[in-house]
Amino acid sequence: MRRLFVAGNWKMNTLRESGVALATGLAKECHKSHPGVQVAVCPPFPFLLPVAAAIAGSGVELGAQNCSPEKPGAFTGEVASGMLLDVGCQWVILGHSERRALYGETDALVAQKTATALAAGLSVILCVGETLAERQANQTDAVLDRQMAGSLAGIDAAGLARIVIAYEPVWAIGTGLTATTEQAESAHSHLRKWLASRYNAGLADATRILYGGSVKAQNAKSLMEQPNVDGALVGGASLKLDDFLPIVRAAQELRPA
Ligand code: PGA
Repeated sequence: MRRLFVAGNWKMNTLRESGVALATGLAKECHKSHPGVQVAVCPPFPFLLPVAAAIAGSGVELGAQNCSPEKPGAFTGEVASGMLLDVGCQWVILGHSERRALYGETDALVAQKTATALAAGLSVILCVGETLAERQANQTDAVLDRQMAGSLAGIDAAGLARIVIAYEPVWAIGTGLTATTEQAESAHSHLRKWLASRYNAGLADATRILYGGSVKAQNAKSLMEQPNVDGALVGGASLKLDDFLPIVRAAQELRPA
C-alpha cells in the first residue's frame, strides 16, 4: 500500500516568526515519523533554514517551492537545487500552476528543472492540472497527457521513483472549489494509467499521486480515501496549524500505525 503524503505549500506567505511558529507546532504534533503517512512543509526560501531547525528530529520533512534549472553560476536571483539540499530540503515543488501561469514556465522548463533537482539529490513534487476552460472543453485528459509527457521528458524509471505527482486542477486552487471525489479519482486513475504506459505497471503502482486544490479538513478524508489519491498538496489550509493538522490526522486515520 502506498504511503500517504501530506505536503504544505506555504507559497509566498509567513514571516520568519510565524513560519517558525507554524513549523514548531507541527513538529510537536508529528514528533515521530509515521509509517503510513509522510508530512512535509514547503516554506519560502528565506525561511528554509529556520524551519529546518524547527522541524529537526521530528517526522516533518522540508521542501522548497521552486529551483533553478541550472547548476550554480551567474544566474542572479536564482536558487540552485544543490543549495536546497544543503539547507535540509528533501523535496522541491516543480511545475506548480502559479509558476506555469504567472511566470511562463513551460513543460520543457519543468522537465529541465526536474532533471537538475533529481541530479542534485532532491525528490520532486511535480504538479499538473487543467484550467476550467480546458475541463469544460473535455480536454482534461489530453492536457494531463501533454503536461506529463513534457514535464517528464528525459526522466527515466529511476528518476520517476523519486517523483511524486500532484494533480492540481487550476480551477480548484485557492478558489474554495474542490474537485469532487469522482473528478479527482478519475484524473488520478488516468495519470496512473499514463505512468504505466510510459514506464511500467509496477512503477505506476508505486508512484504517489497527490490531490491539490482547496483541500481542507472537511474534504481531506474523502479525497484521500479514493484508491488512486495518495495524499494532498495543501496551500491555504497549510498556513494555520488548526487547519493543517486535521488534514494530517485524516491521513493518519486512513493509514493507522
Ligand atoms: P490551495 O492551494 O490549497 O490554497 O487551493 C493548493 C496548491 O496550490 O498547491
